Formats: sequence, structure tokens, C-alpha cells
Amino acid sequence: MQDPEYVKEAFAGIADRYVVTNHVLSLGIDILWRRRVAGMVREVAPLRVLDVATGSGDMALEIQRKCPDTEVVGTDFCEPMLDQARRRGLQNTVLADALDLPFQNGEFCALTVCFGLRNMEDWERALKEMGRVLKPGGLLVILDFSLPRGKLTRGIYRFYLHTVLPIMAGMITGSSKAYRYLGSSIEVFPSGRKMCDLIEGAGFFKTRESPLLPGVATIYSAIK
Ligand SMILES: C[S@@+](CC[C@H](N)C(=O)[O-])C[C@H]1O[C@@H](n2cnc3c(N)ncnc32)[C@H](O)[C@@H]1O
Repeated sequence: MQDPEYVKEAFAGIADRYVVTNHVLSLGIDILWRRRVAGMVREVAPLRVLDVATGSGDMALEIQRKCPDTEVVGTDFCEPMLDQARRRGLQNTVLADALDLPFQNGEFCALTVCFGLRNMEDWERALKEMGRVLKPGGLLVILDFSLPRGKLTRGIYRFYLHTVLPIMAGMITGSSKAYRYLGSSIEVFPSGRKMCDLIEGAGFFKTRESPLLPGVATIYSAIK
């Protein structure tokens, strides 16, 4: 659970370099991960999709590319990040806190949240709020970082996460602080069965998890 004011300020400080930094630090793999999420969304042929914590809009734009007939709305509480999303071509953006979404019950057929839930103040409340705006039978897809399960890979990854990554990100963005925060947020964020329990506790069912790479990220899907 994270301090929203700190999170907002941290993303505002790196908004203009966020996309490039992501692609460099992940060697472009984040693009493939988002494509996979967009593919899952396309399978349910949704009329309206909400991308929560859309940031600079990568996920929403990818869904728009894959589902040209779908109305895609991106929401985020950090105006400088949304500004980037608009500049990159996202047309429907709404400035809002994910814990208090300005939408009616059941407005959306699918909802995505990528690298966003981990940064929120109250994960359970956020998931319940996402469930509220999804229609019954609607699809939830969460993509976020996790820690590899194998001891050796986890150790190597932790060294990258807490030592190498803040230095590299600091060189690109001028702010290693935001990327030290990234490592600590990943350490406390639930993954695997714990995350599935959290999602089901918020009223979803048919929860599935797909670890990516050796588990440095995971895609969770569930049905409202
Ligand atoms: C790591 S970025 C992810 C952006 C984008 N989804 C992506 O895949 O690149 C996290 C985003 O979550 C947003 N965020 C964090 N907590 C939020 C909240 N409570 N409500 C809305 N947005 C939030 C931040 O402002 C930031 O833009």
C-alpha cells in the first residue's frame, strides 16, 4: 500500500521520460507484455474498455490498435502522465483516482490495469472499485511486476532491481528516487496465490495467473 501524494509526485517528475525509460530498462519486453494483455481484451470483443492508471497511455493505445471498434478510456490521477497519453494519441482521458472512479456501475466490458495497482494506497478497495464499474461477466486484466520464484533468479533479479536499475534509471530520468521506490513497491506487492485471493476477495471469479519471463511480471485475469 502506497502513499498517493508521493506516487503522484514521483510520476509527475518522470512523466516526459517514462516511456523511453521503460523500454530501455525492460529491453522492450514491456511492449510484448502489453500486446499480450491487449490480445486477451480483444478475445472478449468489448464495446468499452477502461484502462486504469493509464499513465502515458501505452496499454490503452495498444488496445485501441488491436480493437479499432472499441471505445477505450484511459484514467489516471497524475495530470502530467495523462498529458503524455494525450500527446501520444489517446483521445479519451479522465483525471481520476482509481479508488473513486467517476463512472456508473457496470459501464465497462473490460478493464485493464498495468503496473498501476501496486502503486495504489489500498489494493482491495481499488479492486472493488474496478469491479463496480465493470459489467457482470466483464473481464479484468492486471499486469504487474512480481518476484521470480526460484531462489537463484530471485537473488539475481533483486540485485538488478535494487542496485543496477536505480542507477541506470537515474541516468536517464535524473531521478533514481522513483526507481528505488519501484524496487520497494515490488517487494511488498502480493503475487501468485495471494494476489488471486485478493482479486477473488474483491468479488471476481475464474482468476488466472500467467507468470512472464521467470516471474518478474505476472498477468492476472478474472471475471466479474
Ligand atoms: C508505472 S505507471 C503505469 C502506467 C501505464 N499503465 C503503463 O503500463 O505504462 C503507474 C501509474 O499509476 C498511476 N496511479 C497510481 N495510483 C493511482 C491512483 N490511485 N489512481 C489513479 N492513478 C494512479 C500513476 O499516476 C502512474 O501514472
